[in-house]
Amino acid sequence: MSTATMSAPAISVRELSKSYGDLQVLRGVDLDVTPGAIVALLGSNGAGKTTLVRILSTVLAADGGAASVGGFDVTSQAAQVREAISLTGQFAAVDEILTGRENLILIARLRHLPDPRAIADALLEKFSLTDAGGRPVATYSGGMRRRLDIAMSLVGNPPIIFLDEPTTGLDPQARIEVWQAVKELAAGGTTVLLTTQYLDEAEQLADRIAILHEGRIIVDGTLAELKRLLPPAEVVYVEKQPTLEDVFLAVVGHTSATTKDGDPS
Ligand SMILES: Nc1ncnc2c1ncn2[C@@H]1O[C@H](COP(=O)(O)OP(=O)(O)OP(=O)(O)O)[C@@H](O)[C@H]1O
Ligand SMILES: [Mg+2]
Repeated sequence: MSTATMSAPAISVRELSKSYGDLQVLRGVDLDVTPGAIVALLGSNGAGKTTLVRILSTVLAADGGAASVGGFDVTSQAAQVREAISLTGQFAAVDEILTGRENLILIARLRHLPDPRAIADALLEKFSLTDAGGRPVATYSGGMRRRLDIAMSLVGNPPIIFLDEPTTGLDPQARIEVWQAVKELAAGGTTVLLTTQYLDEAEQLADRIAILHEGRIIVDGTLAELKRLLPPAEVVYVEKQPTLEDVFLAVVGHTSATTKDGDPS
């Protein structure tokens, strides 16, 4: 079948394998992602998360197995896969000299979309970058750049997006903003496969969590399903202390995205 149907998985992976020389990174990965879901791919450093994402986005060829994205085979229908996806940080090349708004308009023009300015303004708004939109990207903080990077990957509304560690290096407030944007995407029907090192990110965002370990997906399910893998919880009484994140957010305050990079006092 060459086109996706409503019930077909957005991403389907079967027995996928990949080695770099003698290093067998993927040893038979199986994964299904339903349309509109957010799936978090967890794994230690070097587990092969980026490798899997690169294969699914047709940047890298697998050695064996099969994968389809948006109903298209990643090997024989790579061009159609590329039309159905976006991958942050890889395809989106942010130009430092241009403003955030100009970067977005440029991508929309390159993709021959009608009304690039309206597209840019809507995305700036969505990622709390409206005020910063007229400034050169060279003046942006790390969190602002990351949000612009994700915004750029969304120009043209691709139905499936890959986010490889979307919040690594961001402060807690910026992470929450990225999470909010990702949740809105999925609410709008976009399928999201993200990799993360942060377990709380997976808990907060993902409908399903897949753990990549020693070349295979060893666990795949909802958070509730994953928790059932452990023995029933023991009931203990503890005094609830605020987490460091609670303290950080309370002290710093939920200031707007464009002003939070100032003096922390
Ligand atoms: N081009 C390459 N050539 C050789 N080895 C590679 C190459 N790319 C990745 N590797 C190795 O493959 C393994 C998996 O790398 P990959 O980047 O997919 O892991 P990851 O799960 O994304 O890790 P991280 O959490 O650090 O991002 C690592 O051991 C890495 O060193
Ligand atoms: Mg990686």
